[in-house]
Amino acid sequence: METRLIAATSEGIAEAAGVLRAGGLVAMPTETVYGLAGDARDDHAVARIYAAKNRPSFNPLIVHLPDLDAVGRYAVLTPEARALAAAFWPGPLTMVLPLREGAGLSPLVTAGLPTVAVRVPAHPLARELLRVAGLPVAAPSANPSGRVSPTRAAHVMAGLAGRIEAVLDGGACAVGVESTILGLDGPPALLRPGGVTVEAVEAVLGHPLVLPGDPAQPKAPGQLASHYAPEARVRLNATRARPGEVLVGFGAVAGDLSLSESGDLVEAAARLFHLLREADALAGPGGAIAFAPVPETGLGRAINDRLRRAAAPRP
Ligand code: TXA
Ligand code: MG
Repeated sequence: METRLIAATSEGIAEAAGVLRAGGLVAMPTETVYGLAGDARDDHAVARIYAAKNRPSFNPLIVHLPDLDAVGRYAVLTPEARALAAAFWPGPLTMVLPLREGAGLSPLVTAGLPTVAVRVPAHPLARELLRVAGLPVAAPSANPSGRVSPTRAAHVMAGLAGRIEAVLDGGACAVGVESTILGLDGPPALLRPGGVTVEAVEAVLGHPLVLPGDPAQPKAPGQLASHYAPEARVRLNATRARPGEVLVGFGAVAGDLSLSESGDLVEAAARLFHLLREADALAGPGGAIAFAPVPETGLGRAINDRLRRAAAPRP
């Protein structure tokens, strides 16, 4: 299959919506990363998402919807979910909520769980595509399973060309790390740090989140230790390069490349996955990448989560 690159015009959006309605797969830009979109009601389309990514089918997908009304058709909105939606949607927040059985989602989307992950993205192209297609869109990040997430159309092409019908080209993603995932089928719990900070969520809830590592923390399916893996080995908390390493700096630690010379976490998140790919190319076969320390506050929590997974021992 030849993967088409579709331009961000109204004709392009109509073409991408047509692919989705016909059961095909389109990579769409969101403000976090590119998602591999398919009709969430269509077993065959959803099965093709898992196949294209080589993703284990026990790892459920996020359903993307244009607004809160649409979300309420597939998930049960708790009072906390409504408050969080008012504060952060459209935006980089995903909520895991009780699934409305019989609402028509493919059971492959939820991997058979009684919950569903839902998100209303903010990217104008994603919003327009969801509106024009008029269907719930299942979309994991548009990368082969376990590899670095895509923040540009070219990243999607590098990983999935030949396996999907099209990529809707929306340029570089503004946030650059995936959505924050909250479990809301029990006491609100952080399942994955992301584009909305823990501090901001706790300010809306008025109480602390259950954090990973807490005994009350529910198990998030598919949060594998090794993920976001480049070809090169990755070392963390480096202040200088060892022989043969490519150093990625932050703030005062200057490197061969820098996440943000001014130590800005928003800029660092937006550049993270692209720099991981660039450093990988610079390091070359059998090479190594070292990352300068990044503070564990605000977006730094999501950045460090991705870096720890990139550095984790690989299966
Ligand atoms: O920013 C994002 O969230 C991007 C864009 C495309 O929306 N999507 C994304 O999807 O990162 P993915 O598939 O790479 O990560 C989704 C995560 C997985 O770790 C999955 O296990 C979790 O969401 N998840 C999905 N449904 C769940 C559920 N019912 N309960 C718990 N975790 C769930
Ligand atoms: Mg992913």
